[in-house]
Amino acid sequence: MDFSNKVVIITGASSGIGAAAAVLFAKQSAKVVLVGRNETKLLDIAKKCKDAKGIEPLTVRADLTNDEDVKKIFDETIKHFGRIDVLVNNAGIGFRGGIRDGVEIYDRAMATNVRPVYLLTSLATPYLVQSKGNVINVSSVAALKPIKDVAFLAYCMSKAALDQFTRCVALELAGDGVRVNSVNPGATKTNFAEAAGMSKEQTEKLYESRDQNNPLRKMAKSEEVADLILYLASDRAASITGATFVIDNGEMLV
Ligand SMILES: NC(=O)c1ccc[n+]([C@@H]2O[C@H](COP(=O)([O-])OP(=O)(O)OC[C@H]3O[C@@H](n4cnc5c(N)ncnc54)[C@H](OP(=O)(O)O)[C@@H]3O)[C@@H](O)[C@H]2O)c1
Repeated sequence: MDFSNKVVIITGASSGIGAAAAVLFAKQSAKVVLVGRNETKLLDIAKKCKDAKGIEPLTVRADLTNDEDVKKIFDETIKHFGRIDVLVNNAGIGFRGGIRDGVEIYDRAMATNVRPVYLLTSLATPYLVQSKGNVINVSSVAALKPIKDVAFLAYCMSKAALDQFTRCVALELAGDGVRVNSVNPGATKTNFAEAAGMSKEQTEKLYESRDQNNPLRKMAKSEEVADLILYLASDRAASITGATFVIDNGEMLV
């Protein structure tokens, strides 16, 4: 898979799945745009990307819940690289809580996991139409079934919304030669649990349960999820659009 001269924007590139995807795209000679809030982590990943093929990435510090920050990502990308070929909508947060925990969690989950994806994709569309590019949304198995053991109601709803967004926009843009797909991971070892406010103990318990109960008796690594993102973004997946790909060691089966 060769991404030479292709410009790939990855949100949430400062950590976990997004960071792994950024490095993998850079290894395939892509010009990567790394988006996140934590500048120190972004610069660390930028160095790893540069080390891959010597191509200097663009880093954009942006809080995706802020529309002006989102617009800045496109202004800076076009000023710097002049085009956009792939948008990876990966940034997201797990919001813990159930129906008894108030509606604010719902607002925050939608504001972080759904609204920015809508705005980012709409701003990217004219450039993607020009480049016949594509979008990858990072969803979750939580879009397809409730998370066991921990209440994650608003998070599950936000990812379900994302999956329908994938299908609707895939249909809308197919005539323009733009593909839109989704990767739906099961539990993956990243900073996700900590960012969702889970204690070390709770996180270890969750990992242990997935390691033991997933039919394949393990969890996926960020790099494996990144591999799937890369494949879907590549020309090898030229006939795939509107699809949601689960990568979960069989978690959905039990
Ligand atoms: N890990 C799992 O078990 C799992 C399972 C299924 C789906 N997913 C999905 O995978 C995606 C990546 O998560 P991860 O597991 O890699 O977790 P992670 O290590 O916590 O990474 C999350 C990334 O999202 C960014 N982010 C969060 N809120 C943001 C905001 N308001 N503005 C800009 N960036 C923001 C973070 O950037 P900063 O740290 O720089 O703020 C970070 O780079 C998420 O969409 C998540 O829902 C994860």
